[in-house]
Amino acid sequence: MSPRPHRSNKPRRTVSIIGTGSYVPERILTNHDLEKMVETSDQWIRTRTGIRERRIAKDNETTSDMGSRAALAAMEQAKVTPEEVDLIIMATATADHVFPAAACYVQKKIGAINAACFDISAACSGFLYALEIAQQFISTHVYNTVLIIGAEKLSAITDWTDRNTCVLFGDGAGAAILRNRPDSHGVISTHMGSDGVFSDILYMPGGGTRCPITPENVGQRLNTIRMAGREVFKQAVTSMFNAANRVLDEAGLSYEDIGCVIPHQANLRIIEAIAERMGLPMEKFYVNLDRFGNTSAAAVAMALDEAHRNGRIQIGDYILLVVFGGGLTWASSVIQW
Ligand code: UT7
Repeated sequence: MSPRPHRSNKPRRTVSIIGTGSYVPERILTNHDLEKMVETSDQWIRTRTGIRERRIAKDNETTSDMGSRAALAAMEQAKVTPEEVDLIIMATATADHVFPAAACYVQKKIGAINAACFDISAACSGFLYALEIAQQFISTHVYNTVLIIGAEKLSAITDWTDRNTCVLFGDGAGAAILRNRPDSHGVISTHMGSDGVFSDILYMPGGGTRCPITPENVGQRLNTIRMAGREVFKQAVTSMFNAANRVLDEAGLSYEDIGCVIPHQANLRIIEAIAERMGLPMEKFYVNLDRFGNTSAAAVAMALDEAHRNGRIQIGDYILLVVFGGGLTWASSVIQW
């Protein structure tokens, strides 16, 4: 068991991502497959969203199963043992159960016997919320090693008869291990924000205490995602651009300094709109939504892992992560790799 330093007057310490991992289910659902399910076309989906295909978990494959696979990959890369993990923060809107936290199931599956565990609910923004929370605990010497996970089984809460939403989402998981690494800057600045005024433009009406699961509610598919797409689109562009500006200002950097932007993977047109506002070429943006669709809290985590593993991110690069999601929520972070 790693010694857990108590809160102290020690100066805040830097926090770095020392390993990343991700996992996607095997089954691929293409746009052509969706053509057979709802009135849509591959061409509409590609031109309006940029998505070509997405992954769908097996019926018996849970969010914590996927999160555990991603976590183990991150731990292997970071050379961290399960016993060394002090805290597991799981960002998800599709936990295995309403309670207990999916993070507790991950704990059991990976054998992180010394960890405290909880989930956070910030929809698609959850992974960067988890990053900021983890950073606070490590920089203040409360914990040494924190595992953060973004994992979703959105296929379980998708209305497969609604073409406005079912073409967008997919399943998957991404994870990162955070620690102090004295030789690096790591996380330089972070920001989280929310606006509950817009809570009903992207939500799931049923399943909570306001609208419990009943046969009638399920019959009306209230246990699936509802979204005002155009409104979400507008809010997404504005909130991500503002959130990005904020962390760059705080870091004393400009867009030209950024080596790679890893945005929420919701819609290619949203990313293009942000790129234009930032005055950055699309080549600076890491995009994998064509292969995985929108995996909510997992999306930025999966993209970060891919970018890291395929060499798109190099040591010393400044990385800008920026996300938005239901709530509404948004978050951003600048990291020196
Ligand atoms: O993590 C956050 C999650 N959500 C998002 O990020 C979503 C943000 N919003 C979007 O990505 C876009 O608004 C959508 C992709 C959801 C929709 O694209 P849009 O360009 O805003 O289309 P629209 O909603 O304005 O609909 C245009 C037309 C409509 O038909 P009419 O009224 O013009 O005849 C829709 O009924 O496209 C129709 N439509 C479709 N047609 C074929 C909507 N969905 C489909 C579909 N296939 N799947």
